[in-house]
Amino acid sequence: MTFPTFVCQNCGGPLAYKAEVPDRPWCCFACPSTYLGNAHLIDYLGANGTQTSDHYSHQWGDGLGFLDFIKKRPAVKSVMPSARLGWDDLFGRIRDRAIRENVSVYDAACGFGGLANELINEQTANYLQYVGADIHRSLDTIRDELPDFDRCGSLVRWDISNPLPIAEKFEYVLCRASLHHTPDPAKSFASLCAMVKPQGTVAISVYNKKSICREASDDALRSVVSRMPVDSAFEVCRQFSDLGKALQKIEEKVVIASDLPLLGISRGEYHVQELIYYYFLKCFYNDEFGDRYSTLVNFDWYHPGFAYRYSPEEIECWFRDNDIEILKRMTIDVQHYFEGIKRHE
Ligand SMILES: C[S@@+](CC[C@H](N)C(=O)[O-])C[C@H]1O[C@@H](n2cnc3c(N)ncnc32)[C@H](O)[C@@H]1O
Repeated sequence: MTFPTFVCQNCGGPLAYKAEVPDRPWCCFACPSTYLGNAHLIDYLGANGTQTSDHYSHQWGDGLGFLDFIKKRPAVKSVMPSARLGWDDLFGRIRDRAIRENVSVYDAACGFGGLANELINEQTANYLQYVGADIHRSLDTIRDELPDFDRCGSLVRWDISNPLPIAEKFEYVLCRASLHHTPDPAKSFASLCAMVKPQGTVAISVYNKKSICREASDDALRSVVSRMPVDSAFEVCRQFSDLGKALQKIEEKVVIASDLPLLGISRGEYHVQELIYYYFLKCFYNDEFGDRYSTLVNFDWYHPGFAYRYSPEEIECWFRDNDIEILKRMTIDVQHYFEGIKRHE
């Protein structure tokens, strides 16, 4: 598979990789601009950073080693909301194509490399062209963890609010659990749609709106935690894991005899931790994740400054406004999944 042509942010000219310029090896053919990186990574953002990029550089960095953890403990995947959405089915379809024909994928906000890990393997690397973009500074950990990555993959340090600086468009544009972390998600979504080929697929998942009390406490706590430096915020988020762990020890169930619509609670039986977690306060704890990675999940919820939540109708509007026909949609308690096809240029 050929590698895509990235272009200069300043003049739009094509970039070439020059190994003999190790400091800034990506050089524009048309103007004097150069960019940081290596043969499989272009860093368009350089020293520029935001609260969100600082957060995720820490969360996905070597210190926490999340991709390594997921690879060693596959059971963890089934606990994550993505496992209950349309992603696994879509990954299967992309892998099936990529073992026999050329397929290009733009993984917008590629994070710790979860999608790359699903899509890239010894067989698919022959035909897959994978581009992962994200603002964090720990992108190279993805290459370190995936042995076939360099055969078919490129990484770009880039803000997905804007269309990728690249000459090609893609058959698949995927953005899992990330648009809600960008400053203007509707604009970011439009930028993703600009990167898909006619008849290509756009698939996203975003946070769902929750009950009134849960939304209010999330906002109040996030406004405190998101102002903390990364290390202290991670430390403080241990309190949510400790609370979740303690509540899970209570075995007696809470019986709610009739629906409580104002609170968003349906009648039924609940474990105490579930009742608190879904309707009042996020306090994630899971034995598979243990203390450290349960804290990472709480940190992922409370520390990023942007964390918008949506109704399904709002996401439908995004697809309509960008002329993407919705083919598949799923909503679970915490997230929505939407998949669509671009019918026209
Ligand atoms: C919850 S993680 C999801 C990662 C990955 N998509 C997955 O599902 O495994 C959110 C990701 O969005 C990235 N992100 C947030 N704002 C971004 C932006 N404006 N441009 C690029 N990436 C962004 C973060 O750095 C982080 O890696």
